[in-house]
Amino acid sequence: MRKLLAANWKMHFYPGEIKPLLNELITHWKKAEWGAHPTVLFPPMIYLREVISYLQDTPLQVGAQNGYPGEFGAFTGEVSMAQIAACGAQWVLVGHSERRQYFSENPTLLRNKLVDAQQRGLQVIYCIGETLSQRQGGETFAVLRQQIEEVLSKDTKWNSLAVAYEPVWAIGTGINATPDQAQEAHAFIRTLLAELGAPADRLSILYGGSLKPDNAVEIFSQPDVDGGLVGGASLRAETFISIAEALWNSPD
Ligand code: 13P
Repeated sequence: MRKLLAANWKMHFYPGEIKPLLNELITHWKKAEWGAHPTVLFPPMIYLREVISYLQDTPLQVGAQNGYPGEFGAFTGEVSMAQIAACGAQWVLVGHSERRQYFSENPTLLRNKLVDAQQRGLQVIYCIGETLSQRQGGETFAVLRQQIEEVLSKDTKWNSLAVAYEPVWAIGTGINATPDQAQEAHAFIRTLLAELGAPADRLSILYGGSLKPDNAVEIFSQPDVDGGLVGGASLRAETFISIAEALWNSPD
């Protein structure tokens, strides 16, 4: 089963705003046919434990938006992959373009994060994507290849990995990749994963970047688009639920 839906809440929400949203999501996901589809929420770190305990006994899974390789130590402000796993989170994001861009996360650090997360039993959504100038310069495929090859390898634990294609120019801009652009990139990524020895036809490749209820059906209808990593539209139950419906109803 390749379908996977994820909500990246980024740096949003104040205490008290989360439970009303979770209550609406729980109402939908406790329906058997919804609960059968893996769905992961990525809250800000400060709410991680609260969300995990609130969602116990529901099919909704929880992940951290970031994590630092290792167990514990003198790394002020960081939270280790081991701590995240010990709190009951199942997933972590690695390589989000906002981490690459604003926090200067380089390929060596990203590789360490990914390997460490998987060793601690976390599943990883590894995010890649080109900038607007890279796309306009015809470098999209080269950038995707580089981002895959410098972090993933034949030693990657493929059964705890999903990849998210998030073109940087589509994130938070309201301008989504067209279904054709998404399909072309996803098919290319699947080929690259196969080259590395991954069981590529079983891996989930998610699209992210201005996913909305009105573009989700078309984007999810593409054969190599297996799900979504949703930012802005995951902050309201109504829009996230309608994107979920689009995914559940899309062809397998
Ligand atoms: P938006 O859906 O707000 O464009 O964000 C996408 C994203 O970055 C998810 O990780």
